[in-house]
Amino acid sequence: MDAKLGAYNIHDLRETARRRLPKGVFEFVDRGTEDDNAVANNRTALERIRFRPRTLVDVSKRSQEITLFGKKQPLPFCIGPTGTAGLLWYGGEVGIARAAAAAGIPFTIGTNAMTSMEEIVEQAGGTLWFQLYVWQDRALSWKIVDRAKGVGCEALMVTVDGAVPSNREYNYRNGFEIPIHFNSRNVADVLSRPGWFASVFLRQVLSRGMPRFENFPPEVMHGLMARTLKKNILKNETLNWDDVKALRKAWPRTLMVKGILTPQDAVKAADCGADAVIVSNHGGRNLDYSIAPIDALPDIVDAAGKRLAVIVDSGVRRGSDVVKALALGAKAVFLGRAPLYGVAAHGEPGAARAIEIFREEIGRVMALLGVNTVAELDRRYLQLPD
Ligand SMILES: Cc1cc2nc3c(=O)[nH]c(=O)nc-3n(C[C@H](O)[C@H](O)[C@H](O)COP(=O)(O)O)c2cc1C
Repeated sequence: MDAKLGAYNIHDLRETARRRLPKGVFEFVDRGTEDDNAVANNRTALERIRFRPRTLVDVSKRSQEITLFGKKQPLPFCIGPTGTAGLLWYGGEVGIARAAAAAGIPFTIGTNAMTSMEEIVEQAGGTLWFQLYVWQDRALSWKIVDRAKGVGCEALMVTVDGAVPSNREYNYRNGFEIPIHFNSRNVADVLSRPGWFASVFLRQVLSRGMPRFENFPPEVMHGLMARTLKKNILKNETLNWDDVKALRKAWPRTLMVKGILTPQDAVKAADCGADAVIVSNHGGRNLDYSIAPIDALPDIVDAAGKRLAVIVDSGVRRGSDVVKALALGAKAVFLGRAPLYGVAAHGEPGAARAIEIFREEIGRVMALLGVNTVAELDRRYLQLPD
């Protein structure tokens, strides 16, 4: 296979992932919730923004470098938390983290990762951040925060957009509800992808046992198939701004709040001492019909952009999407599904290819816009929908 792995864009990686994965696993990654309206609208909102290019600018010395939290990175995007890469490729989380480290961009370890934070630190290195789901039992949550501090994670990101489990009807239909149990639908589905079954699932079970949330403390550690695993354990209806204040006290490094969609909440995050907000609707996976983060971004930048870093995700599939977000004032962009498609298609090289595709596309768009640095990008380069 050629160095491009036969993938000229993220859609190609997605298509290979779709062919490799059982339907239930692919839909778990690819789809959103209920009517999938927010997933589609995340794309529509990005696609409705047009460029206003400048010409006759010498663009031969372009750079995509940004400075985020006082640290330079060569590319203006980071890898967001997506717990379950280990279900897509054996060691998938380490694969993406290594690809990110090689590219010099941060990788976010999820609370719900299937590889422990210690293993990711040891095997990947690079700039590592930790994403936190705060559990009902705060003492347990503060333990995992201490652990992330101890292994050297440079930032803590608390996700705040999932007070209750979302309604992913396709998971029920596909037989992929947590806790996962064997049934006629998922067994037939899994057996229809023998390559994935042998190289991912069987290999995982034989070498490490049933897939588990490896970052959970022993008190709540369960396999994904354990009957004792209640999906409510993954969610927390009582999370509130006092928790953000408590985290600010407990965490001396960079603190980010992920899942903000309004200027009011961004201002509150700044009042609590957060260093950044991630403007996100969780890739359309939690609240269907929630507004597209790219549409929410300008007002949030205007309201809070001088007090904290505003980062955005959801629906980003092209370098042009990244450039649009930066021109609207985002300090950086998160990739969610894009590297997951890469790792599901080809393992670590696939994740690296996803990052490379963004690098190539962003560089080309900057050249055609007549821009040499990320700092030059602003709203004058865009035509926004009415
Ligand atoms: C399979 C999958 C798992 C995810 N798991 C988490 C998670 O554990 N914590 C979290 O904050 N966000 C999680 N997300 C959301 C991503 O961090 C990100 O907000 C979203 O994927 C961005 O949208 P995009 O995939 O369209 O780029 C997950 C997303 C996917 C696709």
